Amino acid sequence: MIMRLLFIIFWAATLTYCADHGTFKDCSRVDFCTNLRSREPSDNYAVDPSSISGSSDSDTLTATLKSNNGDSDLTITLTGLQQNTFRLKITEVDSTQYELQDVLDGDPEILNFDNVEVGDASVTVTTSSGSNSAIITFSPFNIEFSKDGVSEVVFNGDRLAVTRNDVNAPFSFAVTYPQALQLYGVHEHCDTLALRNTADSGTDPYRLKNSDVAYYETNSPMALYGAVPIIYGHGSTATAGVFLHNAAEQWIEISNQDGDSQAYFMAEIGTLDIFVLLGPTPTEVVRQYTALTGTAHLPQLWTLGYHQSRYSYDTQEDVENVISGFDTNDFQLDAIWLDIDYTDSYKYFTWNPDTFGDPVGLQETIASTNKKLVTVIDPHIKVESGYNVYDGALNDDLFVKNANGSVFEGPCWPGISSYMDFLKPEARDYYASMYSYDNFQSSTSTIAGIWNDMNEPSVFDNSLEMTLPADSLHNGSVRHREIHNIYGLLHTMATHQGLLNRDNGERRPFVLTRSHFAGSQRYAAIWTGDNTADWPYLLASFQECLNANLLGIVFCGADVAGFFNNPTEELYQRWYQAGAWLPFFRAHSNKDTSRREPYLMSEETQNIVRNAIRTRYRHIPQWYTLFYEHTRFGDPIIRPLFYQYPEDTNVYSIDNQILVGRDILVRPITEPGVEFVDIYFPGGETEVWIPMTSNDVQRGTGWASVNISNQAIPYYYRRGGAVVRKNLARANTAEMVNDPYRVYWTVDWDSHAQGTVYLDDGVSFKYRDSTDYNYYNLDINGDDVTVTPIDGDGNYEFVMAEMVRRDIVTLPKNDKPGTFKETIFTRDANGTLLKDIKVHLKEKTVFKLK
Ligand code: NOJ
Repeated sequence: MIMRLLFIIFWAATLTYCADHGTFKDCSRVDFCTNLRSREPSDNYAVDPSSISGSSDSDTLTATLKSNNGDSDLTITLTGLQQNTFRLKITEVDSTQYELQDVLDGDPEILNFDNVEVGDASVTVTTSSGSNSAIITFSPFNIEFSKDGVSEVVFNGDRLAVTRNDVNAPFSFAVTYPQALQLYGVHEHCDTLALRNTADSGTDPYRLKNSDVAYYETNSPMALYGAVPIIYGHGSTATAGVFLHNAAEQWIEISNQDGDSQAYFMAEIGTLDIFVLLGPTPTEVVRQYTALTGTAHLPQLWTLGYHQSRYSYDTQEDVENVISGFDTNDFQLDAIWLDIDYTDSYKYFTWNPDTFGDPVGLQETIASTNKKLVTVIDPHIKVESGYNVYDGALNDDLFVKNANGSVFEGPCWPGISSYMDFLKPEARDYYASMYSYDNFQSSTSTIAGIWNDMNEPSVFDNSLEMTLPADSLHNGSVRHREIHNIYGLLHTMATHQGLLNRDNGERRPFVLTRSHFAGSQRYAAIWTGDNTADWPYLLASFQECLNANLLGIVFCGADVAGFFNNPTEELYQRWYQAGAWLPFFRAHSNKDTSRREPYLMSEETQNIVRNAIRTRYRHIPQWYTLFYEHTRFGDPIIRPLFYQYPEDTNVYSIDNQILVGRDILVRPITEPGVEFVDIYFPGGETEVWIPMTSNDVQRGTGWASVNISNQAIPYYYRRGGAVVRKNLARANTAEMVNDPYRVYWTVDWDSHAQGTVYLDDGVSFKYRDSTDYNYYNLDINGDDVTVTPIDGDGNYEFVMAEMVRRDIVTLPKNDKPGTFKETIFTRDANGTLLKDIKVHLKEKTVFKLK
């Protein structure tokens, strides 16, 4: 009954289509934000030159900052790191602030200074044979970070404030990016990719406080479920980044100005600990950031297929029917998802005996069609004595506590719940152990992934902004406000460990999480939460996932075709066509929406959606290779145009087009009723884009108007790239494993095209722990094809059935698109079937086409 009531209250609060601004505060209702935001710049600090310690061949310099107005003195600690990075901490002398843990991917790699030169007015520190420098000016205090003599980041001393009251210790600082025209970063907001000016514009600063916001709005700086506190400053000469390693609530004021773009960070509590990344290209700055916070491990192959979810598939018969609906109607599908109602009264790790009476039988059915099951497991635990997960956690003291030391209890799906204290390593171990086949009873290996939801964490209490009280306690004495933004990260850390243990480390865990932080990519994929079935949210899914990709969290998707409300048929079609081009591809919808599995739709829509899903599956080899390259190098999988074309200032605001890797340009159709759209083709005169959904060859000279149909969204391959696909339409990725590859290319000016392809077992960590994989370079030069093993010595042969060349017949001219002609090769020049050409695992394989 209580549960029902809570449920009604919760959903009633969300019946209007805007976020609840009464619950979620703006800056004017948060004291530290109001105070710090209005604080005038003042030269409050100066370096005491006599305090400087640090020398050439050391890696750290320290100095004391004296306050001019009676505030506490501060200590600066500057450390040299590998990869054109500096770390800067500014703390009170004898600071007792919480030092964040668990976020970085191990200790950052130190780099000794090669010179420290103390002058009368400043001290200069250099690394990397002098190419990186930090000049600390004593008074007025500031620090200028440069690369090869180009000033890239300035830490503005006049905006530094370190304050303290009984409850909080808010601090603020600003960084300027002298080379930047545009700032990017600070996931997660439902907003444009290019950050908007918030200073002097009547807009709130961007907020970072992981929050369960129903009916979130587009174009808003409001905090959403995740927090990644990094800002990149980008201009045509350089890209730099500043990452604030702090998990407390933050607000960030943005001002984009040529030569003076500035981000002003305001944080509630914790340590001022920043990493300054000197790029100087987008590729390098992203790699520097992922060197600190890690990359995603390679996902299992099946996770790249299409996923079907709903809140909720209520019975096991329902699930079985959905599966057969997909199979009989020829829709590809890799996984079906169970939302909270599969559990017994929202007690996670249990099954509802009335509706899921034979979970093992269900899993057998799913497995017999080569599909997987993913089940939701939330972090709140129903308070009910006799429920083993609750009893064990209570007994072992593993729950979050109130400030007075009692166990915190608050409402969520099960009614009154307690919350796992994931900051405690023992709590993570305990929770991880719940995933074992013994503890999660009736679960089999068909449950191949776990969905961690509600982990901001969500508490159904509006007076607490829907989360734990800020003064609740973790691991003894750590206040929730100090670690709020990593609660979800810690939750997924436990789940990831649980899945590893469950399968003896033999399968790569798949976890989907709603709440996330910097570094979450090491444990989980993300999705953009409860979006709405409306056009702006389709665009938002690209804006948000592009941003997440730049910030290391590459495995990102959004609920296809909108969680709240019912999509129009056109939106539904467009959403599938577009969603197939985000790294994570899952349909999901809310309880009160109409059923919308694709096979329930009109015949025309079915055909369109079937083709959209097939387009996804045809490119699975490309996605898998890109994921591998992310794992290995740290690169984003989907990329905004500016990432690949950093000098082209026209592309800085474009966020309705993506590059999938380097070679595929996609323009999702995010507007209703259009018959043509403007697409920006980047790269200049020499770049040519070959259409895959029309005949119109385009040159990389900027905007062109392109006709579109409702059958597909436009996508193009870059001339000079070789795109590796698998074209046969199988029911799922498992059934595609032995299919041969198809290569598509168009040679560039030099008669040349190049690509890569990565192959392994699709499941295990052998690729990481051994060399059981094959990574090939594919080079086409005129008629000569050369496949060269890059590395790996697995036995995964690259077998091609077809090679598809698209020759340009006429180049685009005077606003007229060009044309192409396609030639399909199935044999080499000697008449040997391509599929019979055995690619050498260790040496080059060369053959000729004719
Ligand atoms: C909130 C999630 O965002 C949504 O996707 C899910 O269906 C509900 N929780 C119920 O678990």
